[in-house]
Amino acid sequence: MVENSLSPISITNNLGTHFVGQRVIYYPSLTSTMEVAKQEAQQGAAEGTVIIADEQTAGKGRIKRVWLSPKGSIALSVILYPSVAYLPSLIMLASLAVMHSIEAVTGLKSRLKWPNDVLINDKKVCGVLIESNVRGGIVHYAIIGIGINVNLRLCDFPEIQPTATSLSEELGRNVSRLNVIRCLLVELEKLYLTLADGGSIYEEWRDSLVTLGRRVRVKSGETIYEGIAESVARDGSLLLRHSDGSLSKIVAGDVTLRD
Ligand code: BTN
Repeated sequence: MVENSLSPISITNNLGTHFVGQRVIYYPSLTSTMEVAKQEAQQGAAEGTVIIADEQTAGKGRIKRVWLSPKGSIALSVILYPSVAYLPSLIMLASLAVMHSIEAVTGLKSRLKWPNDVLINDKKVCGVLIESNVRGGIVHYAIIGIGINVNLRLCDFPEIQPTATSLSEELGRNVSRLNVIRCLLVELEKLYLTLADGGSIYEEWRDSLVTLGRRVRVKSGETIYEGIAESVARDGSLLLRHSDGSLSKIVAGDVTLRD
């Protein structure tokens, strides 16, 4: 097993970023990095502060799901203070940063499933969770939570084995979590600065989605939609064409690919 220390110094040393990952708070074991990130943000932590845990005991997924993050995986949250206009882009930014860093460190190609899953060979390798506090049109904080299955043997986790994969399963060898984390923090800052400079990441995100052109079933709250995933809007929502020709714009949901 490749064992790498996730100590703050090993992450920040010569990282080369201006703010993302310049302050790292590390826990060997934690309920959820989102909880600590929220407390830190409420106390005005510096932008780019990273909360990282070797394992989470109550990892949070989207739609109130549980996220498994045993030792060997990556579980981290990054605190940002974006303007409200950039909020919808955070999902794009995070999933693209994961895609880029997986490829840079391992050579593995991944794709995205709307809205925020990173897939390798159609199986989920990473999930992204965005939580924000917006009051009176002002973003008080936004937290990007990222969980990556790095060195996991899926046979040890039968509950996710049919739909999930890990970098080590795909490669047949273990991967340095430290290299993935450092690359990820650099990519996150690069894409965040692209947005701040008026650039766009929407096109690359759209073109990386496996979802488009596919027949899908989308569960959004209590509503189930079925149709062809036609496109995504710049605000990140999914445009779904129904068999009667009508179009639905879906802001959040859970997609199952039908063919
Ligand atoms: C999903 O449901 O796909 C999103 C999963 C997000 C998991 C990450 S792991 C780091 C951060 N801390 C959490 O408790 N959740 C996010």
